[in-house]
Amino acid sequence: MPRKLVAGNWKMNGATGAAAMLSELPPSPGCDVLVCPPFPLIPALLATGTVPIGAQDCHWADAGAHTGDVSAPLLAELGVQAVILGHSERRADHGETSALVAAKVTAAHAAGLAAIVCIGETEAERDAGQTLEIVGQQLATSVPEGGTAETLVVAYEPVWAIGTGRTATPDQIGEVHAAIRTALEARFGAGGTDIRILYGGSVKPANAAEIFAVPHVDGALVGGASLKAADFAPIIEAAAS
Ligand code: PGA
Repeated sequence: MPRKLVAGNWKMNGATGAAAMLSELPPSPGCDVLVCPPFPLIPALLATGTVPIGAQDCHWADAGAHTGDVSAPLLAELGVQAVILGHSERRADHGETSALVAAKVTAAHAAGLAAIVCIGETEAERDAGQTLEIVGQQLATSVPEGGTAETLVVAYEPVWAIGTGRTATPDQIGEVHAAIRTALEARFGAGGTDIRILYGGSVKPANAAEIFAVPHVDGALVGGASLKAADFAPIIEAAAS
């Protein structure tokens, strides 16, 4: 079983004093921890030397005329280790397609960054019975060739569970994670067994242990509850136990 990963996605939150929070997290927790702040906070968080730091996006090109974007090589040069790609908020706010996400994953890998690729159905798609089809399509088209357990993490994030307080049930999570595992093994062979599959969507201290007990749940991508150590630390502890 892969070592669990608990990744915090701060989204467009966190002020300049936010780095102080990292010192309140468990020091050697027995699972991997990653914190992904907004770009301007990355140097301050890296300077604490406490936990690995990730980004929330990168461009598919190495450099050039792309106003407002940030390249994977620059992130890697700073000391960033991973990048979240294809989050549903970027797919919705910025019209990111799975093909674009795959190009970004390729850029991240070329720069030596691990990619956390997000996939998940909307509520309408779930109600229409299309969950496994949508998730399967997004996985196939957002993840390029060449991923390994070191460089690729998949995050299953049902769109209807993100920031809503509505968590998918263990049965719902288990069904989708098993399907993702089967697809990863079909595609990457034995290596697909060790590629971590995170669940994301209203993970909190109260439901973390139950979610981590579901087969093929190798950790969590945590939004709101990653902003305060009082919420994030117990989730890390649940993953480690
Ligand atoms: P949430 O967000 O934990 O606030 O629901 C999860 C995510 O979007 O990654």
